[in-house]
Amino acid sequence: MSLIKYVDRRNTNCSKWDGQSGMFGEEGLLPLWVADMDFQAPSCVTEALNAYVSQGVFGYYKIPDSYYQSFINWERQYHSYDVQKEWLRFSPGVVSAFNWITQFMTKPEDAVIVLTPVYYPFLDAVKNNHRRLITSDLINTSGIYTIDFEDFEQKIVENHVSLFILCSPHNPAGRVWTRGELERLFDICRKHHVFVISDEIHQDLTFAGHTHIPSFTAGSYDDMMITVTAPSKTFNLAGCQNSIIIIPDETLRRKWDEYVTCLRVSDGNAFGYIAAEAAYSDGREWFEEVKKIIYENYLYVKDTFASELPDIVVSPLEGTYLCWIDMKAYIKPEDMKDFIQKRCRLALDYGDWFGGERFSSFVRMNLATSKENVEKAVTAITGQC
Ligand SMILES: Cc1ncc(COP(=O)(O)O)c(C=O)c1O
Repeated sequence: MSLIKYVDRRNTNCSKWDGQSGMFGEEGLLPLWVADMDFQAPSCVTEALNAYVSQGVFGYYKIPDSYYQSFINWERQYHSYDVQKEWLRFSPGVVSAFNWITQFMTKPEDAVIVLTPVYYPFLDAVKNNHRRLITSDLINTSGIYTIDFEDFEQKIVENHVSLFILCSPHNPAGRVWTRGELERLFDICRKHHVFVISDEIHQDLTFAGHTHIPSFTAGSYDDMMITVTAPSKTFNLAGCQNSIIIIPDETLRRKWDEYVTCLRVSDGNAFGYIAAEAAYSDGREWFEEVKKIIYENYLYVKDTFASELPDIVVSPLEGTYLCWIDMKAYIKPEDMKDFIQKRCRLALDYGDWFGGERFSSFVRMNLATSKENVEKAVTAITGQC
């Protein structure tokens, strides 16, 4: 029997189905946008939460050692990475964490570089904190994205960049960066004294033989980097707001601790810790199965477009459950929103959100849903094109 249970999430106050008007100006679209899954979390998570709920007292929570140990074991097993308990810190979200780090590692008007197209809260973090946004576009070769290292270094030098926010694996291009690519990036950063935030929230979601390399294991970079990750994408726990910050360097840890002490947000809520611990301890089988569903959905999207609309370019899904699709052969960029919403009745992330109008011919489709929903979305597009 399958461990993966699809749920009709309508009327559960979920952003994806019930909160479309903020981003799309209307409700009732078939949503394959915001990055969560339409599947129940692993049963070990619901059992652990139920046990906690049934004792009925929701007072202050003492984080047990077993919470840290579950993450340490996961990192060792999945990523051959030996993490120490004293390196770990908490934040209620990866987005909060990279905003905080931007605040304490840089000053207003400092330059921050990102590789575009990229997860749009990176862009917001730079702008909202009044830093200067510097972008280095990835090279797109028939949907396969690579880093333009010369451009990256030149922009760093020209703009006196002090911070690089990396997405690894990359949302939305679907790349799992190789050790060689990471080394080259970080060596450039070291040479020019650029601090790195490595967002590895999608670290577990890798496919077809691609292996995620935790940034810290790419070389000796402890003193120039902080990694932010979470169980939220892997096990569909975003609403539990429990993220994990990895800081091996003592001086950097002190900076984090001083900053967070001023914010008075040192600990999270009991539910987040309990869900994370259960998932990392016992969620492995569920996770392996959910990955298969995601990859089958990807193959369906890729193969159907290849036969029905062969000039659509679907980027290879090495990692994440977010499929990056270039429709420029069929839809004019200025018609994209009208086409996707009015004609196809879909809620997808629009390419321009990820770095500007030059990405307007793209959409990002969330594959962590039922095959039926993915089929409906693809059929809507092929039928309307
Ligand atoms: C690269 C990346 N970072 C962070 C997040 C969200 O993190 P959180 O919900 O923990 O703030 C997402 C969600 O899509 C993401 O893709």
